[in-house]
Amino acid sequence: MAILPILEVPDPRLKTVSEPVTVFDDELKTLIADMFETMYDAPGIGLAAIQVGVPKRILVIDLQEPVEHDHEHGEHCHHDHEVIRDPRVFINPEILNPSEDLTVYSEGCLSVPDQYADVERPSVITARWQDENGNSHEEQIEGLLATCLQHEIDHLEGILFIDHLSRLKRQMVLKKLAKLRKEAA
Ligand code: NI
Repeated sequence: MAILPILEVPDPRLKTVSEPVTVFDDELKTLIADMFETMYDAPGIGLAAIQVGVPKRILVIDLQEPVEHDHEHGEHCHHDHEVIRDPRVFINPEILNPSEDLTVYSEGCLSVPDQYADVERPSVITARWQDENGNSHEEQIEGLLATCLQHEIDHLEGILFIDHLSRLKRQMVLKKLAKLRKEAA
């Protein structure tokens, strides 16, 4: 497995419309394994193939939700932040029946590092996709997974979460990012 470099704005490749996957072979499985390793290392909860420069309709998601602990030993808690790993692969994903009901979530993106902004998206969707063996799946999805999946599917169309913001807000985010990069240089 390998950690792959992640493309960041304003890399024009992020605006690519990705192509459907038609061959489900070992090369695909290797790419998926590398995408998971890259996402966990970043760390992030979702990654689209185009973010590592591969214009194919492949997403990996793992929400890595924290393990619930009973804190019976007082308020000071020094547990490591244990998470439940739930790796999910979505190939050629589609959204059906998006709900009229919307959810706002403060989104971030590995291609727009350290920047967050509220984005409104349908709360409940039906998703249809293929797994790494080419088998089809359909599932109703809600909550953070619905938000994350819609964010990642946007990447396949060359859309970033900042493209959902007003021009003014988007420019503010890009300015802050440029300032951070300058400070880090
Ligand atoms: Ni993203």
